[in-house]
Amino acid sequence: MSNYHIKNLEEYFKVYRKSVHKPEEFWEEIAEEHFVWRQRWDNVMSFDFEKPEIKWFENAKLNITENCIDRHLRTRGDKTAILFEPNDPNEEAQHITYKRLAERVNQMANVLKDNGVQKGDRVCIYLPMIPELAFAVLACARIGAIHSVVFAGFSSSALATRINDSDCKIVLTSDGSYRGSKSIDLKGIVDEALKTCPSVKSVLVAKRINSDIHMEEGRDKWLQPLLDAASKDCEPEIMDAEDPLFILYTSGSTGKPKGMVHTTAGYMVYTAYTFKNVFQYRESDIYWCTADIGWITGHSYIIYGPLANGATTVMFEGVPSYPDFGRFWEIVEKHKVTQFYTAPTAIRALAKEDLAYVEKYDLSSLKVLGSVGEPINEEAWHWYDDNVGKKKSPIVDTWWQTETGGILISPIPYVTPTIPTFATLPLPGIQPALMDENGEEIKGNLVEGRLCIKFPWPSIARTIWGNHERYRDTYFSAYKGKYFTGDGARRDAVGYYRITGRVDDVIIVSGHNLGTAPIEDAINEHNAVAESAIVGFPHDIKGNALYGFITLKETGESRNHDNLRKEINQLITEQIGPIAKLDKIQFTVGLPKTRSGKIMRRILRKIACNEAESLGDISTLLNPEVVQQILEERIA
Ligand code: WT7
Repeated sequence: MSNYHIKNLEEYFKVYRKSVHKPEEFWEEIAEEHFVWRQRWDNVMSFDFEKPEIKWFENAKLNITENCIDRHLRTRGDKTAILFEPNDPNEEAQHITYKRLAERVNQMANVLKDNGVQKGDRVCIYLPMIPELAFAVLACARIGAIHSVVFAGFSSSALATRINDSDCKIVLTSDGSYRGSKSIDLKGIVDEALKTCPSVKSVLVAKRINSDIHMEEGRDKWLQPLLDAASKDCEPEIMDAEDPLFILYTSGSTGKPKGMVHTTAGYMVYTAYTFKNVFQYRESDIYWCTADIGWITGHSYIIYGPLANGATTVMFEGVPSYPDFGRFWEIVEKHKVTQFYTAPTAIRALAKEDLAYVEKYDLSSLKVLGSVGEPINEEAWHWYDDNVGKKKSPIVDTWWQTETGGILISPIPYVTPTIPTFATLPLPGIQPALMDENGEEIKGNLVEGRLCIKFPWPSIARTIWGNHERYRDTYFSAYKGKYFTGDGARRDAVGYYRITGRVDDVIIVSGHNLGTAPIEDAINEHNAVAESAIVGFPHDIKGNALYGFITLKETGESRNHDNLRKEINQLITEQIGPIAKLDKIQFTVGLPKTRSGKIMRRILRKIACNEAESLGDISTLLNPEVVQQILEERIA
């Protein structure tokens, strides 16, 4: 028992040491004591980072929904599992009990089966943050279908790419979604996407905004009437520990998005264990993570981790600014939220507003505050600590990735002393390593390098859907025998980690992971554009914003530059989504290139960040003369 819930620092170090020296014993005890299995594993784990092949709880059989729902029914049937808070504060919140969740998930599972979905099929879920989204995710898990949730802020072409990459058979969506005072025509986006998705045979449409939409004969069906009519019983499909649970797409620095594949048992064990510890979750707590289920944070810490612990998890449909900037705090007061988990970009945006929005509400229920998605800067950390936590609630700065499935480096609240901007210590089972430019591990403290993980943990992604080679190349080829995260990090005098940011061409904008290549591809489709390069620069609220250096086919003033800027951002919105729009667009005579013709993003990054004094030696460039001109025309 003692392994599962860490209560003080001494215990953390003891548990951590055990997890490193005897990882199999460590995870086996946790798996044995805290989950229900249909068949025990033969072997706790095996791995080969060369192939790479990673397996946890080999040959064990289980269904994750039995662990997240059924087993709680006897003791927590009437407890709220999902607390749905709608976009509009005047619409009533829904307390969905474990009993009701079981019924809805089973009904959804039966609807999926009736629509031809079988074990192993891919189901695309493109829904806003409404209860049907949670039911759909869990219903897939119930019948062994692989869910692929696509964030409902992605454009039709981004949606189509994801549907086609994994050959989804069916799409679950809604007529539309609410977002603050606006509503969005989701079904229209799906219709547009499906023009290029031959694998999709049916679309189930949840009614949310009562808009008048087109229903394609023979393909589209309204979801709720089917749900209501379906049986409330559905036997769980018995899954192998290593059967895929879901695919979730994340941007790479090049090429199309990567469909990260997570499997069943290890993911379940790790998300449940980390949820319990990182949020110090107790039975009567009301936990709220503000992320969208379209991201890994929502998968692991709105759905699976909390529900595996029998928790009450808040699901919020709206935005922090509607009807005003007090919305988050109003919800904390209303539902007496105990753990609140959000992103630095939201904190920075709210910190800009009048403090009265926070002070108006009673936030005394809060015990733990969380941050995720990007480095949290010191000012934001203090604002959060002073005004939301009133210096009483520890802040957990949780570092992890879509690929890691769960939180890897984070304080344990009331256990690990926190320091602003430090994610602090690795969780049990996590063995970080900092690497130098020559591929050697940097030992000792007060050092900085590229962050790798030396040993597998249960929830590491197992592959990229349909492209295992890319999985190996991206994560296991830079440093032999290690998982490379793509982040840089510093280790301080006591061994605390501070994540310094991406070291590749991924840029994190408002906590969204954006690869430069797909954005450049979108820009290059504009018929006036010859070439483009995107870099990030610091932004007060978004953390990073995008700066585009673009060369045109025809120079001179033949085209209106402001119109061009609008058209380019419009293209990006269509191809990726509004989150990837450029804040600054500079039309240049050329882009700095190496002799082999590679664009030197490093130089452009310095220019965009206004650090031109440290450009370094540019004399080896193919075209050093363009640098001066770009500098002169830089957009401040
Ligand atoms: C990248 C992963 C983890 C779920 C949300 C993002 C950055 C994430 C932190 C943090 C500094 C962070 C890293 C990472 N990141 N959390 N606490 N401090 N950086 O998942 O979209 O896969 O992005 O987000 O750069 O590699 P993701």
